[in-house]
Parts: sequence; C-alpha cells; structure tokens
Amino acid sequence: MRKLIVAGNWKMNTSVAEGVELAKKVSAYAVEKNLPEGKQIVIAPPFTHLASVAQVIDSNKVILAAQDCAATKNGAYTGEVSASMLKGIGVKAVILGHSERRQYFKENSEILLKKIKLALEEGLDVIFCVGETKDQREAGANLYFNVIKAQLVDTVFTLSEQDFAKIIIAYEPVWAIGTGLTATPEQAQEIHEFIRKEVANNYSQKVADDTTILYGGSCKSSNAKEIFAKKDVDGGLIGGAALKADEFGKIIDAR
Ligand code: PGA
Repeated sequence: MRKLIVAGNWKMNTSVAEGVELAKKVSAYAVEKNLPEGKQIVIAPPFTHLASVAQVIDSNKVILAAQDCAATKNGAYTGEVSASMLKGIGVKAVILGHSERRQYFKENSEILLKKIKLALEEGLDVIFCVGETKDQREAGANLYFNVIKAQLVDTVFTLSEQDFAKIIIAYEPVWAIGTGLTATPEQAQEIHEFIRKEVANNYSQKVADDTTILYGGSCKSSNAKEIFAKKDVDGGLIGGAALKADEFGKIIDAR
C-alpha cells in the first residue's frame, strides 16, 4: 500500500545515550500526534544503538530501521551484521543502496540485490535508494534517467511483484545529499513520476500506484512542504535534519 513516510537516517552520528534520547522524543511526538494509519515515521540509528532504541520507542508508532545489512546470511564475515540479527532485536526495515554505501564501500547492484533478498527473507521492509551524481545530472536528462532506470532494473525490478511490494524507493540525488543543495520540487517530481512510470512498465499501473517513493537530499522543515506537495512524492528520507527532534517533527508535520 502506498504510504506517507518520513524517515530519519542518522548515519554515523550520536552516542548511544544521545540516540536513545532522540528516539524517545521522536516516539513521544508520534504518540502525541496520533498519526493516521498510512502515515509512518521511520528512524534509522547506527547499529550500536538499535537494541537500546528498540526498548524506548512505541513500535506501533515508529518503525525501527537499520542503515545497512550484510550480503551474506551468516558465517566468517568479520564486522558484518546480518538481516536476521537485525530482525532479532526488533528492526523492521533496512536502508539499502544509499549513495554513501555505493560510493565509499563500492556497493554495486549485484551486492545490493543479495542484501535486498536477505532482508526480504527476514521480513524486513527495504528502503532502496537511487539517484544520480552531479556529473550525471549535468550531462543531461537522457543520462540521468538512464542511470536511475539501471539502478532499478538491475536490482528491485528483478523481484516478484509480491516481494516488490515490500520495497520503498527513495530518490536521493547525490548532488543534494548533505550539500545544502536541494532538488527543486519540480526536479523531484520529474524523477518520481519517471520512477513510477518505470514501475508501471515493469509490473503494472496498480503496483506503481501502490509504490511509496520518498525524496532525500538536504530536505528540511523549510523546504519539505513544497517538495512533499508534489503528487508523486510520498515523503522524505532525511539525514542531517533528522538529528534534531523538533526539526524532524516539523518535517513530519509537513507531510
Ligand atoms: P541529508 O541526507 O538530508 O543530510 O542531505 C539525506 C540522506 O542521505 O539520506
């Protein structure tokens, strides 16, 4: 079902104690607002925080997500954390394909598809990120549409319709992440509409209508309302602005 989602990606920020406090505030906000069904708040703290955060949030109101999971099920993979371990501590979703993982950790579509499948096997929802770099954007629409299409075709579009229903897509132009540069509402809408059309081509119009597509990249309370008002934008994946409870609350209200 298509939902309205505001998701906070905390990245590698906050101590456990700070994270627990932030999570408590976000959860209290969600409880106070009594959000309608179909409007969801997601938070994605670092791995070290997840078990503690799971204890302090109202899991009916806030969905706990991880920022990554391993591409293998278990075994001798030093430093990795599996989807089933995450599931075991109350994690309900995982962000995969974030541009920082693609860029700094060389995650490609092949690796990402393995992660997606393992997450889905554990019953986790997947927030799958796509987006073009600054150079690709500047090379013109033909190129950046193709980049985004390829990121989908090689990964989530290979899934069955049933599995694809558990995918939330996040359009995150790399040039807008953490840079203070935000896509204009029109730029966001152009890509969201394109993604929805591609989902329709690959599956059906019904599946496309049910797909949740989030925008991410320097989204904050001052620009969220305009971006979220676009018809194919179903909410946001928020980085820096998700680290302050009141700012994140304002973004939640913007949707
Ligand atoms: P930002 O990050 O809001 O800090 O630009 C968004 C993201 O990377 O998910």
